[in-house]
Amino acid sequence: MNMKTVLVTGANKGIGFEIARQLGAAGCSVILSARNPERGQAAVAALQAKGYAVTWLEMDLGSPESIAAAAEQLTNKGTALDVLINNAGILLKNDQQILEAPADLIWQVLQANAVGALQVVQSFHPLLKRGSRIIFMSSDGGSMSAPVGGWSPVYCLSKTLMNGITRQVAHAMAADGIVVNAMSPGWVKTDMGGSGAVRSVEKGAETAVWLATDPEATLSGYFWRDKQRIPW
Ligand SMILES: NC(=O)c1ccc[n+]([C@@H]2O[C@H](COP(=O)([O-])OP(=O)(O)OC[C@H]3O[C@@H](n4cnc5c(N)ncnc54)[C@H](OP(=O)(O)O)[C@@H]3O)[C@@H](O)[C@H]2O)c1
Repeated sequence: MNMKTVLVTGANKGIGFEIARQLGAAGCSVILSARNPERGQAAVAALQAKGYAVTWLEMDLGSPESIAAAAEQLTNKGTALDVLINNAGILLKNDQQILEAPADLIWQVLQANAVGALQVVQSFHPLLKRGSRIIFMSSDGGSMSAPVGGWSPVYCLSKTLMNGITRQVAHAMAADGIVVNAMSPGWVKTDMGGSGAVRSVEKGAETAVWLATDPEATLSGYFWRDKQRIPW
């Protein structure tokens, strides 16, 4: 694999950290981003100890100012990105009932999970080039064709919005030759997925790493799970 430069949001733990680990092991230069700097520095140190080329970038998707400041930091360094992985996300315990969801919970989740990811693309796209790839970490819960599960309804809505954003961004960036896709990792054992989840983080990260690096993964504007296209 050529030495690619990859930005992964939500990379201080969970699936994002595992994506960074797999890409670092494959020889990529990986920028790990998240809100929590202590956990971020610890994640970077753990991967640097393995000899991987990783750095830290603090960015809070809840804050457009934080996103703009992070993009400015990379722009000033002259960083060019081959891959942008919008992996960060939240699932709140009190996201239980769509008919009672308070407006502040709705806006918080939509901002962190969907609008923030779009703002990351808006701020960082000048660092991308022809052939670069953008990946949105969505969820089966965002599907418009699978049955509604009823769990964490606002989270699921945020992933439906993310899927719509994926299609719009793919369309907008097609002329620049940038490949844009959404994916579901399945139900993964992380702080978010819980210990009852059926998949390892290795499996959860697999399709993102494939979409990021496989020379054959050049279709744009689709939804993927296990390296296969799935219905929106
Ligand atoms: N686990 C599953 O079963 C599953 C299933 C389907 C989809 N997903 C999706 O996969 C992605 C990763 O999930 P995970 O299971 O690895 O969750 P996780 O272990 O809870 O990790 C979430 C990551 O997102 C970051 N994050 C949260 N809010 C943020 C914000 N406002 N700004 C920047 N970073 C923020 C966290 O960083 P901080 O520590 O800085 O907050 C952390 O690095 C999410 O988008 C999730 O929706 C997960």
